[in-house]
Amino acid sequence: MSKRIFRNCLNDLTTKEWLKFQKSWFVHNPPPRQDDVLRHPAKYPETLAQEFIEFFTKRGQVVFDPMVGTGSTIVAALRAGRHSYGIELNSAYADIAREVVLRERENLGESADHLTAEVIHSDAAAVAQIVSEHRIPPMDYIITSPPYWNMLHAKGAETQKQRRQDESLDVVYSDDLHDLGNIADYDEFLERLTQIYTGLKPYLKPMAYLTIIVKNVKKGGKIYPLAWDLAKQLGQTYAMKDEKVWCQDNIRLFPYGLGNAWVSNTFHHYCLQFRND
Ligand SMILES: C[S@@+](CC[C@H](N)C(=O)[O-])C[C@H]1O[C@@H](n2cnc3c(N)ncnc32)[C@H](O)[C@@H]1O
Repeated sequence: MSKRIFRNCLNDLTTKEWLKFQKSWFVHNPPPRQDDVLRHPAKYPETLAQEFIEFFTKRGQVVFDPMVGTGSTIVAALRAGRHSYGIELNSAYADIAREVVLRERENLGESADHLTAEVIHSDAAAVAQIVSEHRIPPMDYIITSPPYWNMLHAKGAETQKQRRQDESLDVVYSDDLHDLGNIADYDEFLERLTQIYTGLKPYLKPMAYLTIIVKNVKKGGKIYPLAWDLAKQLGQTYAMKDEKVWCQDNIRLFPYGLGNAWVSNTFHHYCLQFRND
């Protein structure tokens, strides 16, 4: 009997690698951060972004991140042999991202010489203008993570208390009014974030994917289901596929609500997959 040939239109993975990625949850404990990116309050690991990029694209394709922070997506794309572009509102983070990218290019040597890896300091809300000015080609994949509403302003969060003790670390992203992390009203935040993501649709190739890494938010004893709200809103523009749940199991537990009430230590994020059908 002849073997069926595996024609892979999406990525360069083997069937075994493909299958491994299909599990709906995974544990990924971020490796220790380099000093220069510590300043940023909430980055995702390059190693995680690389796994997604390698699943959702082939070598030489174009990856985009509208809120690139200190450049994790760009570094991951370089390592994976993909071209990449990222927008970041905070000029200090954009500068750090450019330095990080330069260092990554040095590490990778000639193998990355042909790859574009561009960090653009701007507001993601102006994507149409940015795409035209920077001649960004049609995108094969978008991977990104937004501010988790204005959670960095929350006084009580344990991680934030620790960061406040070190002046070299930022507690919030910026005081810029265009920074979505500074919007006090949840519904307004959700609307402006949704507008930015729907604004990317014309530049994402048909049937290409968009991954958004996000968490539900707990504030003042109330849950704001940001991941689920975003899934519902964006489902009107893109085809909602499904989520992969990113779990971390190396974070210290705090006794929230001990003896009184159920309050979880939330150590998981949703990686939401949408397709431009
Ligand atoms: C969760 S962080 C992204 C971190 C990034 N994935 C990384 O690993 O470094 C969200 C980023 O969105 C940026 N941001 C907020 N509002 C923005 C806007 N309107 N346009 C572009 N970037 C924005 C913040 O400065 C912050 O760096």
